[in-house]
Amino acid sequence: MFMAIRNIVKDGDEILRQVCRPVTVFDEKLAQLLEDMAETMHQANGVGLAGPQVGIRRRVVVIDIGDGVMELVNPEFLSQKGTQECVEGCLSFPGEFGLTKRPKHVKVRAQDRHGKTFEFDADDFLANVCCHEFDHLDGIVFKMRVTRMLRDDELEKVR
Ligand code: NI
Repeated sequence: MFMAIRNIVKDGDEILRQVCRPVTVFDEKLAQLLEDMAETMHQANGVGLAGPQVGIRRRVVVIDIGDGVMELVNPEFLSQKGTQECVEGCLSFPGEFGLTKRPKHVKVRAQDRHGKTFEFDADDFLANVCCHEFDHLDGIVFKMRVTRMLRDDELEKVR
C-alpha cells in the first residue's frame, strides 16, 4: 500500500473542537487512512495522532510510543484508575506543553481496521497518550485539561 503524509491540522481549525462520528465502514479507505496517519505521526516525531488532526471527523487513533503502531478504531475506556501528573504536548499545538492530571491505569476497548473488537490495559505513559488521543475524538484538546502551561525555561527540559 502506498502511504502518504497528510497535513496536520493546527490550533484554530474548528475541527479540533468537534465531536467525531464512529467508524461504520471498514474498507480499504479506512486502511489507507490508518496507514497515512501512522506515517504522518512518525514523520512529525509524534507518539499519537487522532482523525480530526488530519481533517477526518471520525473516531480513529494511531499510537506509537516505541513499541510499534497501534491502530484504534472507535476506542473507548472500560475503566480508569489512579492519577498521574503528565507533561503533554500536541502535534496540533507545536511548541506548547502543559501539565495535566490523567488516570495512571486504563482499560481500553477498540476495533481494528477490519472491525474486530479487542481490549488492552495501558499504564503510565501509554495511558496518558490514550487519554490525550481519545479526548481529540470528543473535540477536547489538551489545553482544556492543563493545570498550567510550562514556562519557557521549563520547556528546554522536554524538548
Ligand atoms: Ni494531540
